[in-house]
Amino acid sequence: MQADGSIAAVSNDYSVSLGQFSAAAIARAGHLATGLPLASLAGKSVLAQQVHALVRRLAQHGLLDYRLFSPRDAQDLVVIEPQSAEYWPQPAKLSSSDTIVLSRFAYLRRRGNEMVLESPRAGALFRICDPAIAAALAALSQPQKIGKLRQHLASLNLGLLGLLLDSEMLIKLDAKDGNGLRANEGDRQLALWDFHDLLFHTRSTEGRHANPVGGTYAHAGVVPPLPAVRPPWPGKTIPLGKFVTPEPASPFAKLLRARHSTRDFDDRHPVTLAELARFLDTTARVLSEWKSGADADVGPEATYSSRPYPAAGSAYELELYLTVSNCEGLARGLYHYDAGGHALVAIDASANQRQALSMAAEFAMDASGPPQILITIAARFGRISWKYSSIAYSLILKDVGCLIQTFYLAATDMDLDGCAIGTANIDLFAGMTGLEFHVEGPVGQFALGRGRKGAGPG
Ligand SMILES: Cc1cc2nc3c(=O)[nH]c(=O)nc-3n(C[C@H](O)[C@H](O)[C@H](O)COP(=O)(O)O)c2cc1C
Repeated sequence: MQADGSIAAVSNDYSVSLGQFSAAAIARAGHLATGLPLASLAGKSVLAQQVHALVRRLAQHGLLDYRLFSPRDAQDLVVIEPQSAEYWPQPAKLSSSDTIVLSRFAYLRRRGNEMVLESPRAGALFRICDPAIAAALAALSQPQKIGKLRQHLASLNLGLLGLLLDSEMLIKLDAKDGNGLRANEGDRQLALWDFHDLLFHTRSTEGRHANPVGGTYAHAGVVPPLPAVRPPWPGKTIPLGKFVTPEPASPFAKLLRARHSTRDFDDRHPVTLAELARFLDTTARVLSEWKSGADADVGPEATYSSRPYPAAGSAYELELYLTVSNCEGLARGLYHYDAGGHALVAIDASANQRQALSMAAEFAMDASGPPQILITIAARFGRISWKYSSIAYSLILKDVGCLIQTFYLAATDMDLDGCAIGTANIDLFAGMTGLEFHVEGPVGQFALGRGRKGAGPG
């Protein structure tokens, strides 16, 4: 309870204000420490509605778990831990004639002393507290008719199966195409993903999991840091110093030395539209398009392009989305860079969403304001996974590295400034663009702007 009568949820030194509630609602919410039946939130009374609003607020901040327990001995069977702010348990409807199978993206693993069922598709993970449920899940590696399954596996009740289906841990099969293998799960774009690639993408970005992200120094007390420079090997040394001059020997070498990260920008002198156009032309524009002929050595026929930076297989799967906060001659907004037509196309995203993306970048850079232009590098995943198995996602990240260095060098050459950003919220981007997270989404970001003169590298 706060001094102004509102209530807050406090966890360590993190506090979330939840708003004003009646004393009765606050007293009822106190039961959340041990458990409040979801059914008790469904009533029409003012109290039930208030508690429902409070509980939804807690859920949006990731502060709730959902217990399924055995009514006989109150032992937890499964505890659901939401991984995205939108998760709310809603069992999907199932009937005895439905056939279900585990998603090929679902996996069971040990976490500490617990067994967890996770999936990069799911908005929640399921802590499996009863080994009989883990065994029953193993049986779901093959399609099973609900009616038959329930006769044999008492531990699987319909409510749990409905929740697993709602989270896309399970998939329902059509009678006609039901072997549950790759092609039966989701759309064609999902079929293009390898298991490890989708897991890597969702766990190495923000938005679809609830784990700490970024510089947490999680192992600082366990092992000392590795040295900044690798100690030399003990073998024979060939010194190279006599071959180089102290000053950079070429304009390109000079450019490389001058490149640095800048996180704070001069908002009285923003980047101009003309500069932005030149920057995009220099770094990312399509230079030519061509078609490969069908050939046993080079694969099926496909179209290709050439651009200023190298890209695996010439796939050029990376797309640029610009969140513009301060650019002279260009209105605030979200834009897609049409690299073929060398044009910006406005996308109707809400100001709140744009601010959230810019603020996250500001936070990641520990900067004093949003970047003038935030470039979100998104991948059209299928463009590269159509060809490459197993290495598709790693190739995308390598392409991002090539593009980011190209951005740094072009900005330096144009007397502009910028900084790479290591994270992006893939769910926020999906909400802004309406693109599904597994079809096209963020794999890197770059803040572009004009640094303050005389501020030096920062
Ligand atoms: C892949 C990548 C991710 C980065 N992510 C961040 C970031 O999230 N926040 C930040 O302030 N700097 C970020 N940086 C910038 C680095 O901190 C910076 O390049 C490094 O400190 C070296 O400094 P310099 O670029 O000025 O030479 C990133 C750089 C790269 C290449």
